[in-house]
Amino acid sequence: MKIAVVGGTGKEGRGMALRWAKAGHQVYIGSREAERASAKAVELRATGAGAIEGGDNAWAVRQAELVVLSVPYAAHAQTVESLKADLASRIIIDITVPLVPPNVRTVHLPKGQAAALEARAILGPSAKVVAALQHVSSSHLGDPDHAIDCDVLACGDDDAAVEVALGVIRDLGVRAFHAGPLANAVALESLTPVLLHLTKKYKGQGVGIRLTGV
Ligand SMILES: NC(=O)c1ccc[n+]([C@@H]2O[C@H](COP(=O)([O-])OP(=O)(O)OC[C@H]3O[C@@H](n4cnc5c(N)ncnc54)[C@H](OP(=O)(O)O)[C@@H]3O)[C@@H](O)[C@H]2O)c1
Repeated sequence: MKIAVVGGTGKEGRGMALRWAKAGHQVYIGSREAERASAKAVELRATGAGAIEGGDNAWAVRQAELVVLSVPYAAHAQTVESLKADLASRIIIDITVPLVPPNVRTVHLPKGQAAALEARAILGPSAKVVAALQHVSSSHLGDPDHAIDCDVLACGDDDAAVEVALGVIRDLGVRAFHAGPLANAVALESLTPVLLHLTKKYKGQGVGIRLTGV
């Protein structure tokens, strides 16, 4: 697929871009600064990753069929608002976690209950927003030769969009499951601060989740 990663110059975006390009997808890295995204694309292509290009966020979204929102929560609403016209027709995977630094190990429920719900509220009820990937640390994604010992939950109200998202997420090298309606993003996003607490408390490495019984 043609996949845009808005904020793809960041820690999480880097790993997704590398893994998707290696899996045969065409990846468009987006940034507020086109040059920063182009430089990142050059850097990642140099690893032999495949088809990765970079440009500004709006350009990246316009190239793609599926868009991943990968920006800090503080920039989330503004970013969605600025890309609204082009996001409306595309499948969106929102990986944003509403963290409030420095207390990133404490659950923070935003005004709209979840970042993904806030994105949908900005874009309108027909927007194909899928919330996912909040539990996969960049420390696992970044090295494409490293097996990710972690499952992924994805939720959304458009079943067809969730299925497309699940397929693309599985191409990162993880198991991925449909976790219900977009309202469940409240639970998914709220689990991340708990995982960050566990990572610190037990000196773990990007603590994630594994489902049993499925
Ligand atoms: N890191 C993880 O392990 C992890 C795991 C699961 C979920 N997440 C979630 O994934 C999202 C991205 O995480 P990350 O660690 O990749 O974040 P990051 O590296 O801090 O930021 C990602 C990108 O967002 C853009 N950005 C930063 N500040 C911005 C602003 N004020 N306005 C607009 N764009 C801004 C930057 O791109 P440009 O400067 O190039 O525009 C930056 O490279 C976050 O919501 C995070 O909660 C992260």
